[in-house]
Parts: sequence; C-alpha cells; structure tokens
Amino acid sequence: MSRIPLIAGNWKMYKTGPEAVETAMELAGLCSDVRDVEVMIAPTYLSLPLVAASIKDTDVKLGAQNLYFEKQGAFTGEVSADMIKAAGAEYVIIGHSERRQYFGETDSLVFKKIKSAIEAGLKPVLCIGETGKQKDEEKTFTVLDKQVSDGLKGFGLDELDDLVLAYEPVWAIGTGKTADTGQVNEVHQYLRSLLEKLFSKDFSHRTRILYGGSVKPENAKDLMGIEDVDGALVGGASLDANKFINIIKYNK
Ligand code: 13P
Repeated sequence: MSRIPLIAGNWKMYKTGPEAVETAMELAGLCSDVRDVEVMIAPTYLSLPLVAASIKDTDVKLGAQNLYFEKQGAFTGEVSADMIKAAGAEYVIIGHSERRQYFGETDSLVFKKIKSAIEAGLKPVLCIGETGKQKDEEKTFTVLDKQVSDGLKGFGLDELDDLVLAYEPVWAIGTGKTADTGQVNEVHQYLRSLLEKLFSKDFSHRTRILYGGSVKPENAKDLMGIEDVDGALVGGASLDANKFINIIKYNK
C-alpha cells in the first residue's frame, strides 16, 4: 500500500504575519514542480488566514500548531478547531512535545483535542516521543505505547482516516542530534505494529508515520529512505524556503 509522504513545517513561535506570507509564497513557488509529496506549513494562529490567502491556488497545505478542544466559550486566549478550519487550515498538530513540556499537556487532553479536530474536519498530526532521560532508561517503547494508546483510545477506525502520527524524539528536537537510521527504523516499525494491534492491519498500513527532530537537507534522504518513515515534521529548517525545499525534494 502506498502512502504519499507528507513533509510538514512547524514554524513554532517564529515569523510575523507578513514574514510568514513572504516565506509561504516563496515556498509555494519553489514547490510548483513537486509531485507525489504533500507539503504542509504550520504558522502561528495569527498568520493562518493571511497564509491561507497567499497559498490558495497552490499545492501547499496549511496547518495549525495547536487547538483547544471546546467548541466555544469563556476560554480566554484559546482557539477552537472550527475557528482553525474557518481560517483555511486542513491539518492541526496536536500534542507536540513543547506543548507537553511547557504547557502541561497530558495524553487525556491530547485525546480531547484529536476528537475536536476530527469533528471539525481537520486532519490531526499526533506528536509523540521520548525524552533523553526516558531513552537512557530504556523506556522509549513504554512511553510511545502510552502516548499512542491513551491519545487514541476509544476512537473508531472510521474516525481516524486522516490521522498522521509524528515520532519526534524530544532529545533530537532543535539540538542538531538526529536519531540514527537504525533507531528510527526500529521505532517506526514498532509504531506500525502498535497501530495494527490497537486498530487493524489495513489501518496501520495506510497511516502515515512522520519523523521529526533536526531534519535537515543533509539527512533528509537517509531518513526518508527508511521504509516505515512516511515524511517529516521539520522545525528550524522549515523556516527558510530554500532549505525546506531541499528537504521536500529529498529524492532529487
Ligand atoms: P527541529 O527540526 O528544529 O529539530 O524541530 C522539530 C520539531 O519540533 C517539529 O515539530
């Protein structure tokens, strides 16, 4: 079963609206001859409508970096799935390790966020990954098992059609350290078998599992060449359109 790779740029808390539009348009121009790879960028909430307008007639897709699970109400500072959808996004990143680390997000909150994303017609990108300490203590698989099981527990298969999983070892994010290809291969194989155990073989075969953590033009080909890696979630190197396009065109 073939899975179309997804190369996604998480712009985190970088770029003002005009800066985001400039990079998005530059990237869209560079992507005009890209085939068989889906490209997505996730700017801040504030930039979503601006970037949506600027990439409207291109193949570049838009995503948000977070959402709040309630539909509306007195939740000062929060943004709902419907609002994100109305702003023009197709994807939403959920449970990024920075949200878990700095904003106390738990697996049960992540579950609620995925549910509200699906209800609004957004495609959730569920982020999981172990910290350096957990890796040293050989708890990687236990941690990933819990994050996936608790984040997805209770969903019916029909609800998870658009789910994307992103394995981002926390110790590899923004550090320049990438997991070696053997490690990535082992973890991605484990995740695919976990999806099979929790749901079905067919589901595990059609669900994309991205790798994230210091992905750069120099290592993209090796990482994307791993059989169970179906794309990348890129932070720092996605902020520059010229760098990002070299990751997107890893096969060239
Ligand atoms: P870096 O590519 O900067 O390591 O960030 C990865 C990431 O957190 C993407 O979500």
